[in-house]
Amino acid sequence: MADQIKKLVVYYSLNGNTAFIAKTIAEAIQADVLVLQSKKMMPSSTILKLLWAGKQVFTKEKPELLAFEKNPAEYDLIFLGTPVWAGSYASALRTFFATVALQHKNIALFCCYGGSEGNAFQKMKEALAGNTFSGDMGFRAPLKNAEANAQKAREWAKMIQEKVL
Ligand SMILES: Cc1cc2nc3c(=O)[nH]c(=O)nc-3n(C[C@H](O)[C@H](O)[C@H](O)COP(=O)(O)O)c2cc1C
Repeated sequence: MADQIKKLVVYYSLNGNTAFIAKTIAEAIQADVLVLQSKKMMPSSTILKLLWAGKQVFTKEKPELLAFEKNPAEYDLIFLGTPVWAGSYASALRTFFATVALQHKNIALFCCYGGSEGNAFQKMKEALAGNTFSGDMGFRAPLKNAEANAQKAREWAKMIQEKVL
């Protein structure tokens, strides 16, 4: 049965935490993956990366993204993940929401954060009105406690999958 629904994990990650959770989820439920990647080269130093991301937040930028390798419209269940930026989702998701008009999908949201989830889920739900939300889960600094967070991600993803079937 689980093989009959098409599953996709969509994510953006600046420093690898959201990527780690996204890949763990995809592996646990055998989902395809779509990585949102900025067209502009990201700086490699930590401080420049932070300034680069901070500027995107404060200008409410919609950074241009590389062409999507998967079409979310073809999937039944979509996991969507982001790092929390200034209490909301990362700027790449703003571009994603403006590019792909998802409707009538089962969507599960996840985020990675350093301190708190802020309003990330609420803001994502507003941007995704017209879909069904199957659940949401936050992960605090997952790479600092990788195995516990991977376990949490696997269990959550399987629970969501069961719920949607
Ligand atoms: C520009 C920027 C803004 C951030 N704002 C928040 C925030 O408001 N709350 C929070 O808990 N963490 C915040 N963080 C920390 C990230 O959410 C956290 O480190 C996350 O795990 C990073 O995920 P990633 O490695 O996938 O990029 C921010 C990080 C950046 C770069």
